[in-house]
Amino acid sequence: MNHHKIDSLLDAERIKAHLSSASQAQLRELTVLQETDSTNTFVTRLPAGRRHAHAVVAESQTSGRGRRQRSWHSPAGGNIYLSLGWRFAVQSTALSCLPLVTALCVCRALERTGLRGHGIKWPNDILVDGAKLAGILVETQAVGSGPALAVIGIGLNVRMPVSDSGHLAAIIDRPWTDLASQLPAERRDVCRNEIAALLLEELLLGLASFEDRGFAVFHGEWQARDLLTGKRLRLEGNGGFRYGRAIGVEDDGGLAVDIEGYGPQVLYAAEVSIHDD
Ligand code: BTN
Repeated sequence: MNHHKIDSLLDAERIKAHLSSASQAQLRELTVLQETDSTNTFVTRLPAGRRHAHAVVAESQTSGRGRRQRSWHSPAGGNIYLSLGWRFAVQSTALSCLPLVTALCVCRALERTGLRGHGIKWPNDILVDGAKLAGILVETQAVGSGPALAVIGIGLNVRMPVSDSGHLAAIIDRPWTDLASQLPAERRDVCRNEIAALLLEELLLGLASFEDRGFAVFHGEWQARDLLTGKRLRLEGNGGFRYGRAIGVEDDGGLAVDIEGYGPQVLYAAEVSIHDD
């Protein structure tokens, strides 16, 4: 797991050079930071007029945030922490599928790096062989009853700096992996500027089709990437556990589960893990 190959630092001009002209036209601003508290928080602090289509990428985060009040380990030296502000013409309630759409866009970008076999654990964890490769944190702010601003945050482990793996295991409490360890040998030197551009490009394309046509157009692809359907799950919520079998994802992004002792239900906020035996 040692990747001593030196990658270039993240650089706005290099990222832009890897973007298609359509994506360059869609993206209004790209800010690259050495360090920030959280790229998601950074976007929310921008003046209101500069949040839409503004991407922020950082080498490190001092308070990287994950879902469910978790922190996201964000050391300098090899990963990607990226956020994109996006103003939707619809109300924030219509955006329940955005985390799932984002996960599909990340999967497409990863496929273009040469990765195979990655999948999604609902709603938006990207896993390879049960280990987490990327996490997504989508935060939406409703502006009155008008359009919603979403901040779409992606944390992708590319080359996790491993100074002391015991130490790291204490910080990250579940199995994780990084892209460099999962790619075929000849692709392992892929540079982060190119990966950041792939992520942005797929995100910009995906957002456009989501705005036009909704989640329905992503449903088939979701099924191909979904790691849960048919699996027995452990569901955590309201201070207790339940078990059930995943049925699939609904058009509104909810997870349908046949819960033991309760029957089919659609979940929106549960913490799920695979519990096959
Ligand atoms: C999770 O799996 O819990 C979500 C992790 C999301 C991490 C990314 S890194 C870029 C952006 N800024 C943050 O503070 N969090 C997201």
